[in-house]
Amino acid sequence: MIPYKHEPFTNFSVDRNKRAFEAALKTVTGYLGNDYSLIINGERISTDDKIISRNPASKNEIIGSVSMANKQLTERAMNSALHAFEAWKKVNPEVRADILFKAAAIIRRRKHEFSALLVKEAGKPWNEADADTAEGIDFLEYYGRQILKIKSGKRVASREGEYNRYEYIPLGVGVVISPWNFAFAIMAGTTAAALVTGNTVLLKPASTTPVIAAKFMEVLEEAGMPNGVVNFIPGSGTEIGDYLVDHPKTRFISFTGSREVGTRIYERAAKVNEGQIWLKRVIAEMGGKDTIIVDKEADLELAAQSIVTSAFGFSGQKCSACSRAIIVEDVYDYVLNRSIELTKELTIGDPGDSENFMGPVNDQQAFDKIMRYMEIGKDEGKLMIGGHGDDSKGYYIHPTIFADLDVKARLMKEEIFGPVVAFAKAKDFTEAIKIANDTDYGLTGAVITNNRQHLEQAREEFHVGNLYFNRGCTGAIVGYQPFGGFNMSGTDSKAGGPDYLLLHMQAKTTSEML
Ligand code: NAD
Ligand code: ALA
Repeated sequence: MIPYKHEPFTNFSVDRNKRAFEAALKTVTGYLGNDYSLIINGERISTDDKIISRNPASKNEIIGSVSMANKQLTERAMNSALHAFEAWKKVNPEVRADILFKAAAIIRRRKHEFSALLVKEAGKPWNEADADTAEGIDFLEYYGRQILKIKSGKRVASREGEYNRYEYIPLGVGVVISPWNFAFAIMAGTTAAALVTGNTVLLKPASTTPVIAAKFMEVLEEAGMPNGVVNFIPGSGTEIGDYLVDHPKTRFISFTGSREVGTRIYERAAKVNEGQIWLKRVIAEMGGKDTIIVDKEADLELAAQSIVTSAFGFSGQKCSACSRAIIVEDVYDYVLNRSIELTKELTIGDPGDSENFMGPVNDQQAFDKIMRYMEIGKDEGKLMIGGHGDDSKGYYIHPTIFADLDVKARLMKEEIFGPVVAFAKAKDFTEAIKIANDTDYGLTGAVITNNRQHLEQAREEFHVGNLYFNRGCTGAIVGYQPFGGFNMSGTDSKAGGPDYLLLHMQAKTTSEML
């Protein structure tokens, strides 16, 4: 088997790649507006209630209409998954891995088409869409290899006259609930991990990005996934979410999304309902309030570049995005001014045009929430650039920097999930770490310094799940930087890491007397 290597990103300055992507955008445009059904036990089921998926860059453009599951259909999907589990749990792990490898190969062949769909449905600029598709391929390739590593369990000692084995077996039916911001990668990765470990799945994608998930379902089917192993049930989080989480036959929940919904799921899943004979497992990966710290002995150009790209890439709509820049006072003015200069150079507009660095934010709700934070920011700090938006055609918000925030300001504490970064001053490096840690979250962070002792201090004291030195705080790669956060950022499941699949399995010990 070829060793795992992450899927390379596309260089769009190469004319051939640019033209191939333009062709893919045309392909996707050709099927905009199509209808997508639920898939339960392989059967397409169309409902009257539809999610209308729209292009956030151009609200009137409909990406597709997708049937919505209600409670009754969700129950049917559960029964399908329970039934399929009885056969799927016995399928050889190699066969399950092969489905992932085949799916990865199919997507790699249609890579630009998937990315082009993300441009349209999620409003991603080309490079961000390309990275999302690449990450999805990586999850399939990586988890396929990981299951082969753990399929025989781990060695345990045996005393004379006995033979002990320690093996991992699947859990049962898992509910996968995914977010819109990595509409392909996280949806595909969480689904793939659950199915390759021998579980069956009820997949509820995010309501603003269900079409890319429907396309993934088609790929899984083409790759040989048996009916009922993944059941596709788009629907309203509030309508079917609680039902799925509370269901006594739900064995585990793999959720990625906001703190608000994640903590609700965690709490509800803890309750043992009638007919339930296990404690539900919950993987909940949630928000962040991620920080870049800049020391006085540092490459200040690298610092400003890292802040701007981490804060404004995909309009700051990454759980890993830099939303606080904490700068040691000696270099504060320089880094702030350079970041403003770099921000002025950013282009914002339709992500269908390869020249635009930033596209729209997700939807009206996101637009309104971010604009409310603009007003809060004007009260709490100094608006240096941005601060305005326009939702007449799509949901555009300009990259925004607020300066001189007090460490207790809301802008320094709450996840905004938009292109807004708050700058604060620290008297020295130790204080900078203290401010960075003064949050409920603990997802990503970065430190820009040339001081080795300070790097080691950060390694020990900066309490985040993904800590980066002398680079930005976004862009974890599957298999290289396993991803997941501390505290209210979630259960630190470390997606794309060597321990991730075990969260979807339970260990069984057998001891035989010889
Ligand atoms: P969200 O919590 O609003 O929605 C996530 C999913 O939960 C969606 O599918 C939604 O329909 C569903 N949902 C909503 N209400 C529900 C309920 N009551 N029960 C069950 N499911 C319900 O989050 P979002 O806006 O889609 O995503 C953005 C958030 O996700 C941000 O906070 C971001 O930081 C976080 N995120 C975290 C990670 C990570 O790995 N830590 C990765 C990506 C995004
Ligand atoms: N994997 C994404 C990143 O690291 C969330 O930015």
